[in-house]
Amino acid sequence: MPLYVVTGGAGFIGSHLVEELLRRGETVRVADDFSSGLRENVPAGVEVIDGDLSNPAIADRAIAGADYVLHQAAIPSVARSIDDPLRSHRANVDGSLQVLLAARKHRVKRLVYAGSSSAYGDSPTLPKREDMPAAPKSPYALQKFVAEQYCRLFTQLYGLETVTIRYFNVFGSRQQASSPYSGVISLFIKALAADTQPIILGNGAQTRDFTYVANVVDGVLRACTAPEASGEVINVATGGRVSLLQLLDTLNLVMGTAMAPEFKGLRLGDVRDSQADIQKAQKLLGYTPIVGFEEGLRRTVAWYRTTRQHDKNIQP
Ligand code: UD1
Repeated sequence: MPLYVVTGGAGFIGSHLVEELLRRGETVRVADDFSSGLRENVPAGVEVIDGDLSNPAIADRAIAGADYVLHQAAIPSVARSIDDPLRSHRANVDGSLQVLLAARKHRVKRLVYAGSSSAYGDSPTLPKREDMPAAPKSPYALQKFVAEQYCRLFTQLYGLETVTIRYFNVFGSRQQASSPYSGVISLFIKALAADTQPIILGNGAQTRDFTYVANVVDGVLRACTAPEASGEVINVATGGRVSLLQLLDTLNLVMGTAMAPEFKGLRLGDVRDSQADIQKAQKLLGYTPIVGFEEGLRRTVAWYRTTRQHDKNIQP
Protein backbone atom coordinates (compact mmCIF):
# COMPACT_ATOMS: atom_id res chain seq x y z
CA MET A 1 0.00 0.00 0.00
CA PRO A 2 1.71 3.27 -1.04
CA LEU A 3 2.15 6.01 1.54
CA TYR A 4 1.24 9.58 0.53
CA VAL A 5 2.78 12.37 2.56
CA VAL A 6 0.96 15.68 2.29
CA THR A 7 3.05 18.55 3.63
CA GLY A 8 0.78 21.40 4.64
CA GLY A 9 -1.95 18.77 4.94
CA ALA A 10 -3.78 20.77 7.63
CA GLY A 11 -4.08 23.76 5.32
CA PHE A 12 -6.66 24.69 2.72
CA ILE A 13 -5.49 22.82 -0.39
CA GLY A 14 -3.53 20.17 1.53
CA SER A 15 -6.58 19.11 3.53
CA HIS A 16 -8.58 18.68 0.32
CA LEU A 17 -5.84 16.40 -1.05
CA VAL A 18 -5.89 14.38 2.19
CA GLU A 19 -9.67 14.07 2.04
CA GLU A 20 -9.65 12.81 -1.54
CA LEU A 21 -6.79 10.37 -0.92
CA LEU A 22 -8.64 8.90 2.06
CA ARG A 23 -11.80 8.66 -0.01
CA ARG A 24 -9.79 6.60 -2.51
CA GLY A 25 -8.65 4.30 0.30
CA GLU A 26 -5.01 5.48 0.30
CA THR A 27 -2.70 5.72 3.31
CA VAL A 28 -1.85 9.31 4.22
CA ARG A 29 0.53 11.13 6.55
CA VAL A 30 0.28 14.86 7.19
CA ALA A 31 3.27 17.09 7.95
CA ASP A 32 2.32 20.55 9.17
CA ASP A 33 3.57 23.16 11.62
CA PHE A 34 0.03 24.50 12.14
CA SER A 35 1.21 28.05 11.50
CA SER A 36 -1.85 28.52 9.33
CA GLY A 37 -3.26 24.99 9.05
CA LEU A 38 -5.93 23.85 11.49
CA ARG A 39 -5.98 20.64 13.53
CA GLU A 40 -9.67 20.27 12.81
CA ASN A 41 -8.79 19.96 9.10
CA VAL A 42 -6.97 16.67 9.72
CA PRO A 43 -9.33 13.68 9.93
CA ALA A 44 -9.03 11.46 13.01
CA GLY A 45 -6.63 8.56 12.61
CA VAL A 46 -4.30 10.28 10.13
CA GLU A 47 -0.65 10.31 11.25
CA VAL A 48 0.63 13.83 11.85
CA ILE A 49 4.23 15.07 11.98
CA ASP A 50 4.03 18.42 13.72
CA GLY A 51 6.91 20.76 13.02
CA ASP A 52 8.82 23.12 10.79
CA LEU A 53 10.04 21.42 7.60
CA SER A 54 13.04 23.73 7.31
CA ASN A 55 14.37 21.71 10.27
CA PRO A 56 16.15 18.73 8.63
CA ALA A 57 15.18 16.30 11.41
CA ILE A 58 11.50 17.17 11.00
CA ALA A 59 11.70 16.92 7.20
CA ASP A 60 13.36 13.53 7.54
CA ARG A 61 10.68 12.19 9.87
CA ALA A 62 7.97 13.60 7.66
CA ILE A 63 9.24 11.97 4.47
CA ALA A 64 10.68 8.63 5.71
CA GLY A 65 8.78 5.74 4.15
CA ALA A 66 6.84 7.90 1.67
CA ASP A 67 6.05 6.73 -1.84
CA TYR A 68 4.51 10.03 -2.96
CA VAL A 69 5.09 13.47 -1.48
CA LEU A 70 2.56 16.21 -2.18
CA HIS A 71 4.48 19.28 -1.05
CA GLN A 72 1.92 21.94 -0.19
CA ALA A 73 3.47 23.44 2.94
CA ALA A 74 4.18 27.14 2.43
CA ILE A 75 3.50 30.59 3.77
CA PRO A 76 1.20 31.80 1.02
CA SER A 77 0.24 35.38 0.15
CA VAL A 78 2.05 37.90 -1.98
CA ALA A 79 1.32 40.68 0.51
CA ARG A 80 2.61 38.74 3.52
CA SER A 81 5.89 38.03 1.72
CA ILE A 82 6.36 41.73 1.04
CA ASP A 83 5.83 42.49 4.75
CA ASP A 84 8.11 39.66 5.96
CA PRO A 85 10.27 38.24 3.15
CA LEU A 86 12.64 36.32 5.42
CA ARG A 87 9.94 34.33 7.21
CA SER A 88 8.25 33.36 3.97
CA HIS A 89 11.63 32.52 2.41
CA ARG A 90 12.36 30.07 5.23
CA ALA A 91 9.09 28.26 4.73
CA ASN A 92 8.89 28.45 0.96
CA VAL A 93 12.53 27.92 -0.04
CA ASP A 94 14.43 26.39 2.91
CA GLY A 95 11.47 24.15 3.81
CA SER A 96 11.14 22.98 0.21
CA LEU A 97 14.85 22.23 -0.11
CA GLN A 98 14.79 20.13 3.06
CA VAL A 99 11.76 18.23 1.78
CA LEU A 100 13.56 17.58 -1.52
CA LEU A 101 16.70 16.38 0.27
CA ALA A 102 14.65 14.02 2.42
CA ALA A 103 12.72 12.81 -0.64
CA ARG A 104 16.00 12.04 -2.41
CA LYS A 105 17.40 10.24 0.65
CA HIS A 106 14.27 8.14 1.13
CA ARG A 107 13.95 7.41 -2.58
CA VAL A 108 10.34 8.51 -2.92
CA LYS A 109 8.66 7.58 -6.20
CA ARG A 110 7.58 11.12 -7.00
CA LEU A 111 7.25 14.55 -5.39
CA VAL A 112 4.51 16.85 -6.65
CA TYR A 113 5.19 20.47 -5.78
CA ALA A 114 2.64 23.25 -5.33
CA GLY A 115 3.98 25.94 -7.65
CA SER A 116 2.33 29.29 -8.27
CA SER A 117 1.06 31.30 -11.21
CA SER A 118 2.66 34.30 -9.54
CA ALA A 119 5.95 33.14 -11.12
CA TYR A 120 4.75 34.56 -14.46
CA GLY A 121 4.45 38.10 -13.15
CA ASP A 122 3.13 40.60 -15.68
CA SER A 123 4.03 38.63 -18.79
CA PRO A 124 2.73 40.51 -21.84
CA THR A 125 0.83 37.60 -23.38
CA LEU A 126 -2.27 35.79 -22.18
CA PRO A 127 -2.98 32.98 -21.52
CA LYS A 128 0.22 32.12 -19.68
CA ARG A 129 2.12 29.14 -21.00
CA GLU A 130 4.70 27.16 -19.09
CA ASP A 131 7.48 27.97 -21.56
CA MET A 132 7.17 31.72 -20.96
CA PRO A 133 9.99 33.26 -18.94
CA ALA A 134 9.35 33.79 -15.24
CA ALA A 135 9.16 37.38 -14.00
CA PRO A 136 8.43 37.29 -10.26
CA LYS A 137 7.12 40.57 -8.82
CA SER A 138 7.17 39.68 -5.12
CA PRO A 139 9.27 37.63 -2.70
CA TYR A 140 6.47 35.03 -2.65
CA ALA A 141 6.53 34.69 -6.45
CA LEU A 142 10.32 34.43 -6.46
CA GLN A 143 10.38 31.87 -3.65
CA LYS A 144 7.77 29.69 -5.37
CA PHE A 145 9.80 29.91 -8.58
CA VAL A 146 13.09 29.08 -6.83
CA ALA A 147 11.60 25.97 -5.25
CA GLU A 148 10.21 24.76 -8.57
CA GLN A 149 13.67 25.22 -10.08
CA TYR A 150 15.06 23.13 -7.23
CA CYS A 151 12.52 20.45 -8.11
CA ARG A 152 13.62 20.50 -11.74
CA LEU A 153 17.29 20.30 -10.70
CA PHE A 154 16.66 17.40 -8.32
CA THR A 155 15.14 15.51 -11.25
CA GLN A 156 18.07 16.35 -13.53
CA LEU A 157 20.89 15.90 -11.03
CA TYR A 158 19.66 13.13 -8.78
CA GLY A 159 16.95 11.39 -10.77
CA LEU A 160 14.27 12.23 -8.16
CA GLU A 161 10.96 12.40 -10.02
CA THR A 162 9.30 15.77 -9.42
CA VAL A 163 6.37 17.59 -10.99
CA THR A 164 5.50 21.24 -10.37
CA ILE A 165 1.83 22.09 -10.63
CA ARG A 166 1.36 25.85 -10.96
CA TYR A 167 -1.83 26.83 -9.13
CA PHE A 168 -3.89 29.83 -10.17
CA ASN A 169 -5.93 31.56 -7.42
CA VAL A 170 -7.49 28.51 -5.86
CA PHE A 171 -10.67 28.87 -3.80
CA GLY A 172 -13.13 26.65 -1.97
CA SER A 173 -14.18 25.37 1.42
CA ARG A 174 -11.70 25.63 4.33
CA GLN A 175 -10.01 28.67 2.81
CA GLN A 176 -9.77 30.96 5.79
CA ALA A 177 -10.86 34.58 5.69
CA SER A 178 -9.29 35.36 9.03
CA SER A 179 -6.47 37.67 7.96
CA PRO A 180 -6.05 40.59 5.57
CA TYR A 181 -3.64 38.27 3.69
CA SER A 182 -6.44 35.80 2.93
CA GLY A 183 -7.51 35.03 -0.63
CA VAL A 184 -9.83 37.62 -2.14
CA ILE A 185 -12.80 35.26 -2.60
CA SER A 186 -12.84 34.27 1.05
CA LEU A 187 -12.64 37.94 2.07
CA PHE A 188 -15.45 38.97 -0.29
CA ILE A 189 -17.73 36.16 0.96
CA LYS A 190 -17.03 37.12 4.56
CA ALA A 191 -17.81 40.78 3.85
CA LEU A 192 -21.06 40.07 1.98
CA ALA A 193 -22.20 37.62 4.66
CA ALA A 194 -21.63 40.32 7.29
CA ASP A 195 -23.40 43.00 5.21
CA THR A 196 -20.21 45.02 4.88
CA GLN A 197 -18.52 46.41 1.79
CA PRO A 198 -15.78 44.26 0.28
CA ILE A 199 -12.57 46.11 -0.43
CA ILE A 200 -11.23 46.23 -3.97
CA LEU A 201 -7.54 47.12 -4.17
CA GLY A 202 -7.25 49.10 -7.40
CA ASN A 203 -10.06 49.63 -9.91
CA GLY A 204 -11.23 45.99 -9.93
CA ALA A 205 -10.30 45.45 -13.58
CA GLN A 206 -7.47 43.06 -12.69
CA THR A 207 -8.28 39.50 -13.71
CA ARG A 208 -7.57 36.07 -12.25
CA ASP A 209 -8.07 32.45 -13.31
CA PHE A 210 -10.07 31.61 -10.17
CA THR A 211 -9.97 27.82 -9.79
CA TYR A 212 -12.19 25.73 -7.57
CA VAL A 213 -10.14 23.47 -5.31
CA ALA A 214 -11.55 20.16 -6.62
CA ASN A 215 -9.90 20.87 -9.98
CA VAL A 216 -6.50 21.32 -8.36
CA VAL A 217 -6.90 18.12 -6.33
CA ASP A 218 -7.66 16.24 -9.53
CA GLY A 219 -4.63 17.73 -11.32
CA VAL A 220 -2.23 17.02 -8.45
CA LEU A 221 -3.34 13.41 -8.03
CA ARG A 222 -3.03 12.83 -11.77
CA ALA A 223 0.51 14.24 -11.58
CA CYS A 224 1.54 11.53 -9.08
CA THR A 225 1.47 8.84 -11.74
CA ALA A 226 1.28 10.52 -15.17
CA PRO A 227 4.09 8.84 -17.13
CA GLU A 228 5.36 11.89 -19.06
CA ALA A 229 5.14 14.47 -16.26
CA SER A 230 8.41 14.04 -14.36
CA GLY A 231 10.64 17.13 -14.43
CA GLU A 232 7.81 19.26 -15.85
CA VAL A 233 6.07 22.47 -14.79
CA ILE A 234 2.34 22.30 -15.51
CA ASN A 235 -0.44 24.89 -15.09
CA VAL A 236 -3.59 23.59 -13.44
CA ALA A 237 -6.49 26.04 -13.62
CA THR A 238 -9.66 26.66 -15.62
CA GLY A 239 -8.20 28.50 -18.61
CA GLY A 240 -10.56 31.46 -18.11
CA ARG A 241 -10.23 34.82 -16.38
CA VAL A 242 -12.58 36.91 -14.32
CA SER A 243 -12.11 40.50 -13.10
CA LEU A 244 -12.62 41.43 -9.46
CA LEU A 245 -15.68 43.46 -10.48
CA GLN A 246 -17.15 40.41 -12.25
CA LEU A 247 -16.29 38.28 -9.22
CA LEU A 248 -18.21 40.64 -6.95
CA ASP A 249 -21.20 40.72 -9.32
CA THR A 250 -21.34 36.92 -9.38
CA LEU A 251 -20.99 36.66 -5.61
CA ASN A 252 -23.76 39.21 -5.10
CA LEU A 253 -25.92 37.04 -7.35
CA VAL A 254 -25.04 33.78 -5.61
CA MET A 255 -25.48 35.26 -2.12
CA GLY A 256 -28.59 37.29 -2.89
CA THR A 257 -26.89 40.57 -1.91
CA ALA A 258 -26.35 43.85 -3.77
CA MET A 259 -23.28 45.23 -2.06
CA ALA A 260 -21.05 47.81 -3.75
CA PRO A 261 -17.29 47.63 -3.15
CA GLU A 262 -15.09 50.14 -1.38
CA PHE A 263 -12.08 50.99 -3.55
CA LYS A 264 -8.60 51.35 -2.06
CA GLY A 265 -5.10 51.69 -3.54
CA LEU A 266 -3.55 48.96 -5.67
CA ARG A 267 -1.45 46.45 -3.76
CA LEU A 268 2.34 46.49 -4.12
CA GLY A 269 3.61 43.55 -6.20
CA ASP A 270 0.13 42.86 -7.61
CA VAL A 271 -0.10 41.16 -10.99
CA ARG A 272 -2.52 42.77 -13.45
CA ASP A 273 -3.90 39.76 -15.36
CA SER A 274 -3.63 36.04 -14.83
CA GLN A 275 -5.02 33.31 -17.04
CA ALA A 276 -3.65 29.83 -17.61
CA ASP A 277 -3.09 27.96 -20.80
CA ILE A 278 -4.10 24.44 -19.73
CA GLN A 279 -3.16 22.52 -22.87
CA LYS A 280 -0.07 21.00 -21.28
CA ALA A 281 -2.15 19.71 -18.35
CA GLN A 282 -4.64 18.27 -20.81
CA LYS A 283 -1.87 16.58 -22.78
CA LEU A 284 0.37 15.29 -19.97
CA LEU A 285 -2.18 14.71 -17.21
CA GLY A 286 -5.42 14.12 -19.10
CA TYR A 287 -6.70 17.02 -16.99
CA THR A 288 -9.81 19.01 -17.71
CA PRO A 289 -11.56 21.25 -15.16
CA ILE A 290 -14.44 19.49 -13.43
CA VAL A 291 -16.10 22.34 -11.51
CA GLY A 292 -16.63 25.76 -13.10
CA PHE A 293 -16.26 29.18 -11.49
CA GLU A 294 -19.89 29.88 -10.59
CA GLU A 295 -20.61 26.37 -9.36
CA GLY A 296 -17.41 26.57 -7.29
CA LEU A 297 -18.60 29.84 -5.76
CA ARG A 298 -21.96 28.29 -4.90
CA ARG A 299 -20.27 25.40 -3.11
CA THR A 300 -17.90 27.73 -1.28
CA VAL A 301 -20.71 30.02 -0.13
CA ALA A 302 -22.72 26.99 1.03
CA TRP A 303 -19.74 25.80 3.06
CA TYR A 304 -19.20 29.26 4.52
CA ARG A 305 -22.82 29.49 5.63
CA THR A 306 -22.76 26.03 7.22
CA THR A 307 -19.59 26.68 9.18
CA ARG A 308 -20.76 30.10 10.37
CA GLN A 309 -23.99 28.45 11.47
CA HIS A 310 -21.91 25.82 13.19
CA ASP A 311 -19.85 28.52 14.94
CA LYS A 312 -23.04 30.08 16.25
CA ASN A 313 -24.25 26.71 17.51
CA ILE A 314 -21.13 25.93 19.46
CA GLN A 315 -20.89 29.32 21.12
CA PRO A 316 -22.04 29.20 24.76
C1 UD1 B 1 -1.28 35.17 -5.80
C2 UD1 B 1 -0.99 34.20 -6.94
C3 UD1 B 1 -1.56 32.85 -6.63
C4 UD1 B 1 -1.10 32.40 -5.26
C5 UD1 B 1 -1.55 33.40 -4.22
C6 UD1 B 1 -1.11 33.00 -2.83
C7 UD1 B 1 -0.95 35.65 -8.93
C8 UD1 B 1 -1.60 35.99 -10.20
N1 UD1 B 1 -1.58 34.71 -8.19
O1 UD1 B 1 -2.61 35.43 -5.76
O2 UD1 B 1 -1.13 31.93 -7.60
O3 UD1 B 1 -1.60 31.14 -4.96
O4 UD1 B 1 -0.94 34.63 -4.53
O5 UD1 B 1 -1.63 33.90 -1.92
O6 UD1 B 1 0.08 36.17 -8.59
N2 UD1 B 1 -7.67 41.95 -3.48
C9 UD1 B 1 -8.67 42.88 -3.30
N3 UD1 B 1 -9.25 42.96 -2.07
C10 UD1 B 1 -8.86 42.19 -1.01
C11 UD1 B 1 -7.85 41.22 -1.23
C12 UD1 B 1 -7.26 41.14 -2.47
O7 UD1 B 1 -9.02 43.62 -4.20
O8 UD1 B 1 -9.46 42.32 0.05
C13 UD1 B 1 -7.09 41.83 -4.83
C14 UD1 B 1 -5.57 41.74 -4.88
O9 UD1 B 1 -4.97 43.00 -4.90
C15 UD1 B 1 -5.40 40.98 -6.19
C16 UD1 B 1 -6.62 40.05 -6.25
O10 UD1 B 1 -7.57 40.62 -5.36
O11 UD1 B 1 -5.45 41.86 -7.28
C17 UD1 B 1 -6.33 38.64 -5.80
O12 UD1 B 1 -5.63 38.69 -4.58
P1 UD1 B 1 -5.30 37.38 -3.72
O13 UD1 B 1 -6.53 36.59 -3.51
O14 UD1 B 1 -4.52 37.83 -2.52
O15 UD1 B 1 -4.40 36.51 -4.67
P2 UD1 B 1 -3.19 36.89 -5.67
O16 UD1 B 1 -2.26 37.83 -5.00
O17 UD1 B 1 -3.69 37.18 -7.02
